[in-house]
Amino acid sequence: MNILVLGNGGREHALCWKIKQSPKCKSLYCIPGNGGISSIAKCFVIDPRKKSDIYKFCIKYLIDFVVIGPETYLEQGLSDYLIKRNIAVFGPSKQASKLETSKVFSKQFMKKFNIPTAKYSKFTNFEKAKQYIDSNKGPFVIKVSGLAAGKGVLISTKSDEAIKNCYEILIQKKFGNAGNQILIEEYLEGFEISYFIYVDKKNYLPIDYALDHKKLFDGEKGPNTGGMGAFTPSNKINSEIEKKILKEIIDPTFQGLKKSNITYRGVLFLGLIVTNNGPKVIEYNVRFGDPECQVIMRRYKSDIIKDLKNVSNDKLNLSKLKKISEPCLCVVLTSKGYPLKFRKNILIKNLNKIQNKDGVEIFHSGTKKNMDKIFSSGGRVLTITATGKSIKIARKRVYSVLKKLNWKNGFFRKDIGK
Ligand code: AMP
Ligand code: GLY
Repeated sequence: MNILVLGNGGREHALCWKIKQSPKCKSLYCIPGNGGISSIAKCFVIDPRKKSDIYKFCIKYLIDFVVIGPETYLEQGLSDYLIKRNIAVFGPSKQASKLETSKVFSKQFMKKFNIPTAKYSKFTNFEKAKQYIDSNKGPFVIKVSGLAAGKGVLISTKSDEAIKNCYEILIQKKFGNAGNQILIEEYLEGFEISYFIYVDKKNYLPIDYALDHKKLFDGEKGPNTGGMGAFTPSNKINSEIEKKILKEIIDPTFQGLKKSNITYRGVLFLGLIVTNNGPKVIEYNVRFGDPECQVIMRRYKSDIIKDLKNVSNDKLNLSKLKKISEPCLCVVLTSKGYPLKFRKNILIKNLNKIQNKDGVEIFHSGTKKNMDKIFSSGGRVLTITATGKSIKIARKRVYSVLKKLNWKNGFFRKDIGK
């Protein structure tokens, strides 16, 4: 099969790496890809917002299957557009993507189907949001309803700070139209887990879970980021918690989709907080997580193309997932200054000295290749992954690579998986 992957992150590099191992994969293409993906796939720069250009590409290169990575392309209805023109796609429809692209929609969905989540109120009017904050106790979790590239959740313990946040979103339009509606949520205490399932029209199938470190600094301090590192599995998740997740969250979510006549075909990412009162949903995402995907792909043993095709053909019942028993851990190397201001186009000098051995695999995010040299081109730059007999061994392997890389423009957390 000729396969096209859309996206340019570490997530897409890991997907390409796994897809390339499938005996079904004849040629692999990626739009736009990055410096690492270009070593395993033919990369082309086409704007995915121009859906007809993507379609023309599929016709020209005889693409049999398109795998969509980022949620923004799904929100634009790229999956619907291609499927309508008989191109097979992995990635949910625009309607199904509302589970991620509208937090108001996903909250209403959870409420309707009794899926445990934080209590919330929704606002479009600043004065009303202010009144609510003035008459309640914090911490206040303020969320913009639309897509905000992982930056749309603001948590404040103090009311004046929460009011300022609401003002910036609702009046100053800090997030544009994505912030026309906001939610103010109850603060949930607990630990977070990212849980992934495949869903088709008739079935769902758990894939794996990972624990993601979202905060910039060690000890879960500093601002939120896209993710600074992840690992799987975790001894925090016992079979009792997993059973609860399946029974109280995943099953009702799938039944809710059916009852709402929403055909969902793709991966569903459940962002959960495990509280003393059990697991609760903080968000749905309609795609793999980054960097969670990187560790999950490292442990994925089955033929991924077979599984992705089964999802798109409503034949998920034919998939039986296998994963390696060794744990996997990853650390994200960012450009210094991320998630705010950072420099680009900096050579990652020692990268070609690192060999992917001892269970190590490096996935690229914001990189580009120039004359066989790799330069940084974004905030998150590389994800170093390693498997090992234990999380401790995997962690040691990852940090030893980071030490050898010794990239002066880089920053990474020192406590992933601790
Ligand atoms: P999200 O973009 O929804 O994943 O939220 C970003 C981060 O905000 C999450 O990873 C959590 O750390 C935090 N968060 C979101 N909702 C809540 C909540 N209701 N209570 C506590 N923390 C939350
Ligand atoms: N790492 C979290 C996400 O991809 O949204």
